[in-house]
Amino acid sequence: MTSAQIDRSASAADAGLTTTKAPFIEQAQKSGQLYIHQPYELYNEDNHEAWRRLYDRMADRWRKYANHRFLQGIDVLCLDPKRMPRLEDVNKFMAPLTGFRAKPVSGYVPAYLFFDCLRQREFPTTISIRDKEKLDYLPEPDIFHDIAGHVPMHTDKAFADTLVRFGEAARTAAEIVGAVKDRDERVRRVTSIFKALARFFWFTIEFGLMKSEDGKSLKVYGSGLLSSYGEIAHSIDSPEVQRFPFQLEWVINQYFEIDHYQPLLFYVDSFEHLFEQVGVLEQWMKQGKLNNVSPGEPSMSEADVQSFLEAGRAA
Ligand SMILES: [Fe+2]
Repeated sequence: MTSAQIDRSASAADAGLTTTKAPFIEQAQKSGQLYIHQPYELYNEDNHEAWRRLYDRMADRWRKYANHRFLQGIDVLCLDPKRMPRLEDVNKFMAPLTGFRAKPVSGYVPAYLFFDCLRQREFPTTISIRDKEKLDYLPEPDIFHDIAGHVPMHTDKAFADTLVRFGEAARTAAEIVGAVKDRDERVRRVTSIFKALARFFWFTIEFGLMKSEDGKSLKVYGSGLLSSYGEIAHSIDSPEVQRFPFQLEWVINQYFEIDHYQPLLFYVDSFEHLFEQVGVLEQWMKQGKLNNVSPGEPSMSEADVQSFLEAGRAA
């Protein structure tokens, strides 16, 4: 055996579950397995080190910028700052509070399936983690974003109910478009409604701000911000960011780009306010008010369209 062969076999055995390189995930994707388990033994020391570094530098920023419900969620989940989280442990703490569970997935979940998981209090969760040398930029979610950014919010009842209501709104969307006879019109309409849903989700669940308890400042509850060392501070402190009270008609027509810090953010008064707004979104959908939202990002993939149309047929 040559030294090159030895190196290769050694690295294959210790490939870990890194976003850029995870044979276990690649295999699952190849065989079409979307829902998987978390093979905890596959995490290597680099993976644990990446988690430790990410957690370590976020801790102070969370205390300074995060909404207090998030801080309570972090405490309740008892995440280990030094080791990769076990989803089983996370669920043990979370499920009794709100019924939510983290559900491991191998990659992108088509839009309707994602929303429908929320309706059933399941949160599709990435199990790989970014490279320990590239902590800042990540085009796709990883376990730090999903478990440290999203899941602590799911311990809050009003927030958890909001996600469920969002999933119910997606089901209503599938039913509405499923009743449209003409295929082209069906696709056009589902695309418009999807943009509205995705924009709402983006400007709230991913990048939302909220008034602080005393109403004098803004705090972060969006998971894209809560999992970003640079952007969490930028979102609150930078004079370059425009921050407006949440306005549904604006949000559903506002395009967004994912590859840079967000220049425009919206704040809600409370999670009860957010919950109520998802209800209004669904009402507007039923009234046809989401059928012609402005074009632009986000785009809808063929898999996203199909997921809604199939759900509509089944309804
Ligand atoms: Fe996210």
